[in-house]
Amino acid sequence: MEITEMTLDDLELMKDTLYSDFDNFWSYNILKQELENEKTTYVVAKENNEIVGFAGMMVFMDEATLNNIVVKKSCRGRGIGGELLEALIEICADLNLKTFTLEVNTSNIPAIKLYEKFGFQNLGIRKKYYNNSQDAYIMTKYDL
Ligand SMILES: CC(C)(COP(=O)(O)OP(=O)(O)OC[C@H]1O[C@@H](n2cnc3c(N)ncnc32)[C@H](O)[C@@H]1OP(=O)(O)O)[C@@H](O)C(=O)NCCC(=O)NCCS
Repeated sequence: MEITEMTLDDLELMKDTLYSDFDNFWSYNILKQELENEKTTYVVAKENNEIVGFAGMMVFMDEATLNNIVVKKSCRGRGIGGELLEALIEICADLNLKTFTLEVNTSNIPAIKLYEKFGFQNLGIRKKYYNNSQDAYIMTKYDL
């Protein structure tokens, strides 16, 4: 598996499988805007030229915010999410950033465990953050 910076060409490769193979909480159009935004950095995981996951963050001043991380449904539990997150953490370190923060649905146990494994601390709850109904934990990593 290789991890590289994600390009618009990578998004085109995924266009037809984005909704079936990945969770559909981010549309093609929103991802395209993300990739065109100079404040965001996305990485992509590829196996045999097939995209098996991607993750992105937004950088502002000396802080990063995780915008998205998703692994192809059939490829979960094999370390790909961890490698994607690690790649973003390394970019944060290279940029000398101070914090890396994210929101995660309080019911999303796999993601919460992933973030804890990589040193994110749970700092509190944003009530009704998702669809004005589900709560989110705010998690931050300081040791970049
Ligand atoms: C969250 C997600 C990206 C994890 O990707 P993944 O490739 O399956 O994760 P990995 O195999 O790299 O696992 C890394 C760590 O995450 C945790 N983890 C992953 N899947 C887990 C599960 N089903 N249950 C509990 N912990 C889990 C573990 O701590 C694991 O480390 P370990 O293997 O040493 O125990 C993946 O489940 C996903 O795409 N989910 C849907 C999208 C999503 O919810 N994104 C987060 C939005 S905030």
